[in-house]
Amino acid sequence: MAGQGNPAHGATAHIPVLLPEVLGHLAAGEGDRVIDGTFGAGGYSRAILEQGSDVLAIDRDPDAIATGRRLEKAKTGFRIVEGRFSALDDLADAAGFVPVDGVVLDVGVSSMQVDQAERGFSFRLDGPLDMRMGPDGAKAGDVVNKASVRDLAVIIGVLGEERKAGRIARAIEAARRDEPILRTGQLADIVSAAVGGRGPARIHPATRTFQALRIFINRELEELALALQAAERVLREGGRLVVVAFHSLEDRIVKRFMRDRSMSDVGSRHAPQVRSDPPTFSIATRRPIEPGEHEIESNPRARSARLRAAVRTGAPARPVDFSTVGVPRLNNVPGPEAFA
Ligand SMILES: C[S@@+](CC[C@H](N)C(=O)[O-])C[C@H]1O[C@@H](n2cnc3c(N)ncnc32)[C@H](O)[C@@H]1O
Repeated sequence: MAGQGNPAHGATAHIPVLLPEVLGHLAAGEGDRVIDGTFGAGGYSRAILEQGSDVLAIDRDPDAIATGRRLEKAKTGFRIVEGRFSALDDLADAAGFVPVDGVVLDVGVSSMQVDQAERGFSFRLDGPLDMRMGPDGAKAGDVVNKASVRDLAVIIGVLGEERKAGRIARAIEAARRDEPILRTGQLADIVSAAVGGRGPARIHPATRTFQALRIFINRELEELALALQAAERVLREGGRLVVVAFHSLEDRIVKRFMRDRSMSDVGSRHAPQVRSDPPTFSIATRRPIEPGEHEIESNPRARSARLRAAVRTGAPARPVDFSTVGVPRLNNVPGPEAFA
């Protein structure tokens, strides 16, 4: 995620992360068409427009859409649609914006989302336990109050990569027997007490639990895998895919997708197997690009960013396989809708 921001009460401006590197890998110019799948505050979109390209922006957050509507009035060559980036191919089709020369995704939450207490993303600012990026679906509080101890432990363990998930799930269950858990501050205190306070750890003890709940209710990893598949469908041959991810589960999906789509052979040395599907991308970043010290100093929330880019070949697109790209299986935990 894009960091937990500073504890201001209002939303702070979102500083675009790795912007020169994003523009360099998109390599979009005059008359090109680019999809910005995560408009946010429009940092990338504005910079891409400056380079003379047309932009179709997407966001699922109504606040981001409101910002985009203002930009639509001010700039020709810019359009924004409210929706999920997993459907960016359908949205682009409906807008008559295919094929495209570039797709950029900057996944995670924006500063505006994290820094508004009432959105419920932050354990540093007390607010309702919401965490929804869009207006619909289950809130984090629904899951925290209704999921079984087992399901909570799976969600927090897998999506938060939290070793103490079982202990946290039991503490949640004990606390909600007394009263419902409705506030971010309440949940942060329960988790901190369960895992033994802050200690020498660099991160707040509730970081992983909050991350897990956010990813779960917004289906962030499935969204990402489907967005990569959708990008493959809309990019022309030679078009660029650029993705900035903020934690290991997301970056793993991007890495595996690009590796899978750029390989023509699979199998081991002992059991070589020629693949029938031709590569749909060639990888442009051998290693992920990370922000330098200077960027991290001026924008601490950039610190965990990883950029990966790939160039589309002319081979036909094909469906993405969740297990190949590493979307974790949640061991029979129902989807977030079950808790709404
Ligand atoms: C990190 S911000 C993007 C910031 C943007 N690059 C900028 O420079 O201002 C991520 C944005 O993606 C949006 N988002 C996250 N997941 C989404 C999804 N599945 N579909 C559409 N938008 C999504 C969030 O609502 C948020 O506004």
